[in-house]
Amino acid sequence: MAPAAGLTPSQVAAFDRDGYLILPDALPPPAVAALLRETHRLLDEDFVLEGHPLTKFQTGGDDGQEHVGDDYFLGSGDQVRFFLEEDAFDAATGRLAKPKARAVNKIGHYLHILNPVFARVTSPADRDDDDDDDDAFAGALPVAPVARSLGFRDPRCLQSMVICKQPEIGGAVPPHQDSTFLYTDPPSAVGFWYALEDATAANGCLSFWPGSHKTAPVRRRLVRRDDRTGTHMVDNAGAPFPSGALPGDAAAACIPAGHEDDADQYVLGEVKAGSLVLIHGNLLHKSEKNRSEKGRIIYTFHVIEGDGTAYDEKNWLQPPARGFTKLCA
Ligand code: FE2
Repeated sequence: MAPAAGLTPSQVAAFDRDGYLILPDALPPPAVAALLRETHRLLDEDFVLEGHPLTKFQTGGDDGQEHVGDDYFLGSGDQVRFFLEEDAFDAATGRLAKPKARAVNKIGHYLHILNPVFARVTSPADRDDDDDDDDAFAGALPVAPVARSLGFRDPRCLQSMVICKQPEIGGAVPPHQDSTFLYTDPPSAVGFWYALEDATAANGCLSFWPGSHKTAPVRRRLVRRDDRTGTHMVDNAGAPFPSGALPGDAAAACIPAGHEDDADQYVLGEVKAGSLVLIHGNLLHKSEKNRSEKGRIIYTFHVIEGDGTAYDEKNWLQPPARGFTKLCA
């Protein structure tokens, strides 16, 4: 049997030029439906408020320093856990002001192993004869060949999550680079981001600064505090780009620190359900608050290079006992 195809040369060229690539119809409608159904089952059945620490997912706050970092979050690398939307709480009382299934910001970070439906996205060959969703993934774009097209030698999936972007309260995510949060030296992270519902300007789709993966160094990293009491941002002492440090002329053309929020530079990434968006770990991207009545549920996982990069103990996310998951064709 011929190996599954990855990206075409023109798609690879577009990713290299822009730092992101939109692939419509990467998941067939039955697969999207199965993943959405499973998301709602997780929210309705598996997520229970009793005993939950009510951990909110925070993405920086006004000074860029407020990041989630309690034990429930830091220990979620090999679990399926639920993180809440900041605006789901009543500001005056501190109590949850939304039904639980409408209060979740994200579910993470080991769905790709622990959840049999989400595992089908990264391991399409794994089939359970009792699984009604067996045929739902027929025709889905195999991810390992895509990773290899992007140059990965040993692609490793290190985390996965469903992001709910709830109607009316789904929070904005300020401009950021994923390698700030998932750092290897040199940087190698690529995000695989699947829309399970149509993502539009109204419900807080992504927007990208095209080409910024070549001009935005990874200047900061989110790391665990030395005393293990949470996370904070520190200056990145490692390589700022996948290629290492840029030579003088190129370095001089980099986006200056503090200028990442230039609204004129961003391009909206409206996509239909079933689309896959590949996102370079250095690429500046963001999303606005969902002020609409429509949800914007997405599934995303990240891949890093396991061959020739260093993944250190400072990262908030530490590998499970079996190591990060190999992406196999
Ligand atoms: Fe991101």
